[in-house]
This record gives sequence, C-alpha cells and structure tokens, in this order.
Amino acid sequence: MCGIFGYIGSDNGIHYTLEALQLMEYRGYDSAGIVFEEEKAFTLIKTVGKVAELKKTVNTRVANTTSSKALGHTRWATHGIPCEKNAHPHQSNDGSVVIVHNGIIENYQELRTELVAEGYSFISDTDTEILVNYIEYMAQKEGGIKQGLVRALQHVKGAFAIALMSTRDTSSIYAMRRGAPLLLGIGKGEYFLASDMCAFLQHTNDVIFLDENELVTLHDTEYSIESLYTGERIDKSIESVDFDIQSAQKQGYAHYMLKEIYEQPDVIEQSLIGKLSDGKIVLSHLPKEQPPRIHIIACGTSYYAGLWGKYAIEELAGIPVEVEIASEFRYRKKALDKNTLVLAITQSGETADTVAGCAIARELGCKTMAICNVVGSTITRMVDTVLYTQAGPEISVASTKAMTSQMIALLCIALHYSSNRESEQYREYIGGLQHLASTVRDILPQTEKIARQYAELCKDKKSFFYLGRGYCYPLALEGALKLKELTYIHAEGYPAGEMKHGPIALVEKSLMTIALLFDDEFGEKTQSAISEIQAREGQVIAIAPLGLVTTADFEWHLPKTVDLLQSFIMLPALQLLSYSIACLLDRNVDMPRNLAKSVTVE
Ligand code: AGP
Repeated sequence: MCGIFGYIGSDNGIHYTLEALQLMEYRGYDSAGIVFEEEKAFTLIKTVGKVAELKKTVNTRVANTTSSKALGHTRWATHGIPCEKNAHPHQSNDGSVVIVHNGIIENYQELRTELVAEGYSFISDTDTEILVNYIEYMAQKEGGIKQGLVRALQHVKGAFAIALMSTRDTSSIYAMRRGAPLLLGIGKGEYFLASDMCAFLQHTNDVIFLDENELVTLHDTEYSIESLYTGERIDKSIESVDFDIQSAQKQGYAHYMLKEIYEQPDVIEQSLIGKLSDGKIVLSHLPKEQPPRIHIIACGTSYYAGLWGKYAIEELAGIPVEVEIASEFRYRKKALDKNTLVLAITQSGETADTVAGCAIARELGCKTMAICNVVGSTITRMVDTVLYTQAGPEISVASTKAMTSQMIALLCIALHYSSNRESEQYREYIGGLQHLASTVRDILPQTEKIARQYAELCKDKKSFFYLGRGYCYPLALEGALKLKELTYIHAEGYPAGEMKHGPIALVEKSLMTIALLFDDEFGEKTQSAISEIQAREGQVIAIAPLGLVTTADFEWHLPKTVDLLQSFIMLPALQLLSYSIACLLDRNVDMPRNLAKSVTVE
C-alpha cells in the first residue's frame, strides 16, 4: 500500500506535495519522491527512507522553486527493494511521461516483453516503470497522451491508482483508480488527487469519491471525469466531509487496529493476485518439486500462523512440517537435516530471534525461505526465496491483517505442492478462496456487533481459556495472545484435548472459556471439553459455524465455508472480541503497554 498525491493550481505544488506525503506516510515509508513541472520540463527528486529525507533534499536542491503542477509518492515496496531507483515517480525512457502509482500491475511481464521488443530498457525492478513506458509507447502510437493513456489502461491488468503528467500536454494531470483508493479534492481554483483525503483536508473538505475506471483530467483550473471504456463524461457529486486529519488517516476508524481488521478482505484479494489462475495456485518462484520436509521458525503471532500452516501443508501436500519458536531454535542443539527447508515467517523481517534462526539455518546448509511483509527487510536479504505478503504497512502493534496474509501464503504453499491438484477437495479450496474475501467483507460488521456484545460479558473476567483442536488450536493460541496483549487480562490457548491433563483444575465460575469449533471430526471432541468445564461451573462461549449446536452457555455462530477456510472467518471474530474488550477497558489499543511492533533485540 503506497500513498500517491497530485496537485494542480495557483499555489506551490511542491510545498503541498511534501506536506501531503508526510500526512500519508502511514501508508508506506520505505522511500518517497516528487516530480514537478517547470517551463514544460520535469524535475524528479527521489530518496530512500522517510518523507523527511525527501523534504531535506528538495529544500536543498530547489529551495525557492515553485510549481503549479506536482506529483508525489510515498512507497511501501511490493516489487523491487526500497532504493532510489525503485522509488517513485517513474519516468518513461524518453522523459516525456512521469507517473506515481499505488498497487500491482498483474500483466507487467507481458508488457515488459512487448516493450523490450520495441527497444525500451528499464532502470528499476518495478512494475511501475514498465507501466509508464507502456503509456508513452501507446501515446506515440495513438498520437496523444490522453489517447495513449486510455488505450494502455484498457490493456493493463491489476489493482492500481495512478496520476501522471506528460510533456505532450504540460497543462494537465491525468489520474485513474482500479482496485486501489483515489480521491479528488476540489479546492478554490486548485485540485488535489490523493490515496487518502488526510493528504488535503487542511485545504478543502470538498471531495469526489472516484469509482473504478473513471479517467480524471485536471486541466489548469478545470476538471473532467469520463468513462475509460466509453469516453462518456461522468458527473460526480461533490461530498463535503467532516473528517479531521487524524481520523482520516484511520479512514474514520477509531483505531488503526480496527481499520486493519477491516482491511483483511482486501489483503486476501491482494495476496492472491498473480497466484491464482486457471483454477490453480501457482507460485512461479517456488521449485515445483516438494521439499522433503519444512521447519518453520517464527515468533508470536507469526509462530501461530506457522502452526496453522503445518496443518494445511501436511493435509494438502503431505510434507512433514515442524514449527518452532525462533528463540528456542537458535539455541537448541539441533539435528537438522540439510535437506530441510527452513521457512521463516515474519511480518517485519527484523525480529532478532528469527533473524538469528535464519543465519543458523544457512550455516547448517539448509535451503531457506521467508514469508514476509516488508520488501528489502533484513530477513528477506538472508534467505534463498521470499514469498511477500501483500498486507501493506501494519501500524497497530497487535498483528491482525499480517496473520491473515501469512495464512494465505501458507495455504498457497500447501496448494502449490498439493499432491492431488485434480481432486474435488482441491477444486473446493480454489472455489472457496475465490469467494473468501467477499465472505469476510460481508461478515465483518455483524461480527463486530456480536464481539461488542460479548465484550460486555467478558470485560470483568480475570482469566480465560481459549480451546481448539486441529486448525482451531493455533487460532486458540492467537486468540489468547490478542486478549493478553490488548486487554492485559491473563489468557491461555490450549489444545482442547489437553484440558483433562491438568489445566481443568483451574476451572471455576470466574474462569471464562472461549471454545473454537469447526464442523469437523474435532467438533464433537471439543464439545466434550465444553461439558467437562461446565460440569465444574466454568462458563463457555463457543465460536462455531452456523448449524453446529453445542451445550455452551453462549453460542457465537459464524457463516460456514470450506473446511480450513473457516479459519479466515473465525480469526476476525477473535481479533474483534479482544479489540472490543480493550476498548471497554480503555486500553491503548494501537500501542499496548510494554510492546513494540518489531522486537529487534533478544
Ligand atoms: C503479535 O500481535 C505481536 N505484535 C507479536 O507477537 C509479533 O507477531 C511477533 O513479535 C513477531 O513479529 P514478526 O512477525 O515481525 O517477526
């Protein structure tokens, strides 16, 4: 997730752009850049690091320059590591077109091949540089930038929001969205384009919410919007919004955590782009042959995602999987077969114990791989292969959407290595995956509503058990962690079958148990754990698919989906329950006490 911005008007676009990028830095902050027009020529300045670096460079290089037209970008890398050449804006080979882009061009390889055949070359590793040259190539063929842009965007596949300028028409800025946010701010004789309204709210509250494939032309002091496919003019209503900047950065949500929980359907969609085609999951950069065994190392929530992945990979691919906490792995006297694939799971790519584990795996001569959310982070530069999760920056310390993206990545690995890709079960999973994002999107509001009701019941409890079997066991561990880190209430995740081996001694009226069940062979067995708890006056909330009846004191039913995909419906319920209790207890939701977003020390 990156932040793009464009300005056209009588004021200084350079100043407005730098200010806007600072306000959108939460969307991505590994590099930033600006381009502005001056006497029909473009000046591009790009820097690695935060927007403050860019500001410093701009103020040094072009201190007293003003410009009526400017574009800016703050990057969260998805293609190509964070470095100056990969930072946006990007410029066509002939310098005539400049662009800022948020999103992913799915058919960039096809476009690249076509352009190389026409003599184009590329400096960066990004899909964006291919896009800007493709637009310029089409502008040449069509005899104008707007015609070329229309033709190019009709051919490009993927989810993106773009803004661009061309020396062929230096009085205009063009922009369009398809699957990524883009708003048009209407000022007095000036216009703002931005991924997020927080970028321009201090200048105007009048906003046009653009829809897919609506081509925007900003031309001096006018704007027009037309359909990319019919060319017909579109009259959009101008909304007057009353967000302040802070709430706009959270897109109206009370906390980043809630915003990131609601981003999970988008994350599921983004995570599948380029992996799901013709009814098959294909991870093109993974070897086709199965590794003999996989040893997962991770910490915290990422470790629980790994435990969940063990069940999926063993069930669907038949590959033996071990999962180990990285801080144990790094010191244990281990007998690791060097044919083992060591798979590090990490949102940040900087967790000290996981970094150390990767180094040890390499010393042992093992093949190494990472599932990571931060392009160019330390761990991604240590391993042989990286599977990037497309979760975008996760601002809240408590990990939510990152875990969903890690589970999607693990499921994709399981399906990629699946031993029977023609089976009914494989087809069921692919079908379930294709609808998963919309299913989760549909259930979130109701799930939040129920979570808030149960939070009232739970907020004064002093201790919790989270129980589950099979896929529900890692989810129970994660549910307990979310409760601990957000509400500071003690909670333990446990395999439901383990209760009678000691923990049941803790059961009494004051203990609340959250029992997680799927409608599978484990469901009945978890029911017996519920009965054992109730027989000792413990209270139980059962979270289960619609139609599964239990004896629990309270039943929280969720829509039913395909087997293990039920996990993606259940996880938000656990996140929202902890979030809701934390709100009632007035905790610091986005930055809980004692916690850091990335534990870069032992
Ligand atoms: C989860 O809510 C925590 N923020 C924490 O457990 C986190 O998952 C853990 O520190 C691992 O971080 P990583 O994924 O960046 O390696």
